[in-house]
Amino acid sequence: MTLEDVVARAKVKQGIWEEEIRLMRAKKFSTICVHGAYTKREALDNNHGAIIEPVCSATSQAFGDSDLLEAALAYKASAWAYSRIANPTVGYLEIMLSMLEGYGTNLKTTACCTSSGMAAIKAAAEPFLTDEKPGKKNIVSMAQVYGGTFQLFTERFARERGVEVRWVENPDDEGEWAKKIDSDTRFVYGESPSNPGIVLFDIEKVAKLAHAKGVPLITDSTIATPALCRPLEHGSDIVVHSLTKSMTWSGRAVDGVLISKENITSNVLNADIKRDFAGWVKLWPLRDAGACVSPDSASRTLDCIRVLRSTMDLLSQNTMAVAEYLENHPRVEKVNYPGLKSHPQHELAKRYMRLVDSGENRFGHLLSFEVKGGHAAARKVLDRLNFVFSATDLGRIKSIAVIPTISTHQQQGEEARKIAKIPGNLIRLCVGAEDSGDLNAELGKALG
Ligand SMILES: Cc1ncc(COP(=O)(O)O)c(C=O)c1O
Repeated sequence: MTLEDVVARAKVKQGIWEEEIRLMRAKKFSTICVHGAYTKREALDNNHGAIIEPVCSATSQAFGDSDLLEAALAYKASAWAYSRIANPTVGYLEIMLSMLEGYGTNLKTTACCTSSGMAAIKAAAEPFLTDEKPGKKNIVSMAQVYGGTFQLFTERFARERGVEVRWVENPDDEGEWAKKIDSDTRFVYGESPSNPGIVLFDIEKVAKLAHAKGVPLITDSTIATPALCRPLEHGSDIVVHSLTKSMTWSGRAVDGVLISKENITSNVLNADIKRDFAGWVKLWPLRDAGACVSPDSASRTLDCIRVLRSTMDLLSQNTMAVAEYLENHPRVEKVNYPGLKSHPQHELAKRYMRLVDSGENRFGHLLSFEVKGGHAAARKVLDRLNFVFSATDLGRIKSIAVIPTISTHQQQGEEARKIAKIPGNLIRLCVGAEDSGDLNAELGKALG
């Protein structure tokens, strides 16, 4: 057999799988969550009939002949080859996630899993900072992003590489975004809802502003998950997730993903890269950076995603009940939850946060509240909690509380926390699947 024959044969096999995936994409969200790309043929032909995606822990794949080996390593024939580049278990997860983020649209989507959420954000952002296009470069981001993202932008990009970071302090102000985005902007970045401030931004409007300058919009949708919001359908070019959070609500994996749609907007990348940005990141920069996810973590994430829709529904309803309780508590100064009418972006949240395949508003599992009596009082409340764990974590099936100023957002400094509106008496609470009556009783005791 010639090399061409080998490539043609691999293409036929790949084509069969792609057709199965195309059919699965037309199913409802929950069906995709259960099955994804792991079809009956995949099970029978490639996995001894195993009904659940096996954890393929082998580092590499053997090749029957040198032609296939050569074709695979030239990326001419799809293969798993070596787990830093591609792995079957990770592959099943990537296709599943690309289906979920593109759900309900005709968009062609691809995904690239990474070793953590931060690795996904770095892998999504870095290609746009290339020096191949000379001249100044800036990035425009809302100021209320996750603390790790803030550090990445200010320390790694601004301080170490001289990239100007333009913070948008009021994401509701279209004029502020418009003023800051210009022809030297490499990408625009937002997080919706944000952690821990629970601030949203109008994805559609900001995407239009970015595209008008030939710039892509990257959206961190970790808190919403595709069960509640899918930014690609609203104009975002790339979506990033910390899969470590509610997509792996069991708390048994650290991983991340970036998902892109076909032909993203960019004034620095070539047409080939723009066509399949996530696929390119996977095969080239991520291969070289080595920030791959382990197949074990990927399988744990797959297990949680199977019930993502019902989990996000339950957690959102629980959180709503807790938010309403806290809002009426005399020791609470303020509650930030987009499901509450008092939230300044309640109307925006109603537009963007809906339970997939039902249309009903669901606002997620993250809230924060300010305790009367300042930082010392917030510490007391945290220390009095019993079954609600105190940890720098969120998106669990268990409720978790933390004070951001002494934990997740400690390194940002006073000034940056002020811009991001994170006061010392703020407690971030991520509500789990416990009974909401028990949760309210626990919080009432701690506050009392
Ligand atoms: C919104 C958001 N994005 C990204 C990250 C980073 O994710 P990871 O911890 O998986 O690197 C986090 C972590 O808390 C987060 O909350």
